[in-house]
Amino acid sequence: MVRRIYQPTDARRLLTPGPVGIVTTAWRGNTNAAPITWMTTLSMEPPLVGIVVHPDRHTADMVRLGEEFAINIPGPSLLKQTAFLASQSGLNINKLEAAGVEVFRGQWTEAPLIEGCLAWIECGVEDMQRYGDHLLFVGRVMKVQALEEAYAEHWLLQDRENSPLAYLGGDRYAVISEPLQATFETNLQGALIAETVEEREEREEREGQERDKKRAEGEEGFVQMLERERDDIHKTVF
Ligand SMILES: Cc1cc2nc3c(=O)[nH]c(=O)nc-3n(C[C@H](O)[C@H](O)[C@H](O)COP(=O)(O)O)c2cc1C
Repeated sequence: MVRRIYQPTDARRLLTPGPVGIVTTAWRGNTNAAPITWMTTLSMEPPLVGIVVHPDRHTADMVRLGEEFAINIPGPSLLKQTAFLASQSGLNINKLEAAGVEVFRGQWTEAPLIEGCLAWIECGVEDMQRYGDHLLFVGRVMKVQALEEAYAEHWLLQDRENSPLAYLGGDRYAVISEPLQATFETNLQGALIAETVEEREEREEREGQERDKKRAEGEEGFVQMLERERDDIHKTVF
């Protein structure tokens, strides 16, 4: 195992794989949409979320002027559209139209909501602060909607199409999948038991089965090799 040192800016990539949001905005009859992955919850009461936007983005102006935004959370069916919406500024083009996505009216915001997404969060802007070279917009959550198939107080991750997209950087995305339930036990001193007796037995059984499978595959491969060699000998003799 090799531990490498990376640039401080790699922190952003390491922290990145959360759901991608497509932030939609509206101001004076104009609309825009851009994928934003630097997003966070800031407070439960009141419900506040933060989106981090570079000041050069058209989205930054739209959020500042419109004082509201919506976060649309796509699944893998909107992968191409998500990448397209990030490929150019919406200053001179109606990106939502060009991306061919359908939109519907939100329950609170003027910002259009994107059809085909898995969840939608409508926000009013509470605050804006500059941190380094980006702007943090603090949004008060006004309405939340999500597909039943995708979300029930947590992401269900039952099937690929209804699981959110994560962004890895560049043109790399992932589907957030495989829900894991975390339960743990502690010993008398209160320290974590990394593997219980039952878990060790389960692991050993699993490993044994994998070993048997590999051995069987190896033997099968060996038999096939012998048959191939025998055929080759027959070919050369006759
Ligand atoms: C998946 C993804 C996530 C992104 N996340 C952010 C982000 O968090 N903040 C940001 O300022 N730009 C982000 N970008 C870049 C903007 O989406 C991109 O610059 C876009 O063209 C801006 O459009 P606009 O100028 O119409 O606002 C991201 C790009 C991609 C592909």
